[in-house]
Amino acid sequence: MATNVAASRLQGTGANALELDGVGRQFGALTALSGINMRIAPGERRAVLGSNGAGKTTLFNTITGDFHPTSGSIRFFGEDITTLAVHERIRRGLRRTYQISQLFTNLTVRESIYLAYRGVSRNRFSLLRPRVSDSAMAQAESISHAVHLDGERDKTVGTLSHGQQRQLEIALALAGAPRFILFDEPAAGLSPTERRDLIEILNALPKHIGYIIIEHDLDVALRVSEYVSMMHNGQLFTEGTPEEIENDPRVQEIYLGGGHG
Ligand SMILES: Nc1ncnc2c1ncn2[C@@H]1O[C@H](COP(=O)(O)OP(=O)(O)OP(=O)(O)O)[C@@H](O)[C@H]1O
Ligand SMILES: [Mg+2]
Repeated sequence: MATNVAASRLQGTGANALELDGVGRQFGALTALSGINMRIAPGERRAVLGSNGAGKTTLFNTITGDFHPTSGSIRFFGEDITTLAVHERIRRGLRRTYQISQLFTNLTVRESIYLAYRGVSRNRFSLLRPRVSDSAMAQAESISHAVHLDGERDKTVGTLSHGQQRQLEIALALAGAPRFILFDEPAAGLSPTERRDLIEILNALPKHIGYIIIEHDLDVALRVSEYVSMMHNGQLFTEGTPEEIENDPRVQEIYLGGGHG
């Protein structure tokens, strides 16, 4: 089974970045997720595919703590985080971006990244007026470069193009010291040029940062991941390398039958 292939690939590498065992989530009578087993190595880049309602965002919500799973357990770098609060997971280096944009449109790019950095740093609850630290500012510069927004640092977020706003969301996830990022459809609504930019940005991220990317665009998903998990009706349907997934006729049927172009 493909899951065993994934597990054996990771043998001997120490603690996984993420380990999901039997993770399920009910919403009343609706089973949004069930029996999810996943192993993701540190630094690994994984794509999660699946048609609308397959459970992809719910999977992210259980990993980030936005919703707790109703069954199963989740480990992050060896530690059980199943019921930890969201901010505790963030403190441990877990980050996410949202399917629906969550940016403050009146801030500049630089201020947004700086605030994200403040938000994940130790003294975030300090009531004192924060001193603008050099290291935070240096990080804002290098992150805006990493997401191809060098020329936009002093622009307000509301004036950015849709593609640039999505790049900024990636920037916010990079603030602080992320070890693992969950990207929820970062390519949604992007032009072909912006998609190429996104692929470049993701492929150039520091190698120690692993991620899961939910993506409807197969071309993007297969070019930014080393391994692919395919979901259907709240379950893991199959897993494989991008080549295996691309050539799997069942995947084609479910995926292309899901109404995505
Ligand atoms: N907060 C919630 N309350 C009730 N049902 C929910 C909730 N969140 C998700 N669901 C349901 O769980 C199922 C999985 O939804 P989810 O958003 O995880 O799908 P998805 O794979 O991310 O889909 P999409 O590709 O449309 O983003 C759906 O049937 C959805 O209606
Ligand atoms: Mg979703």
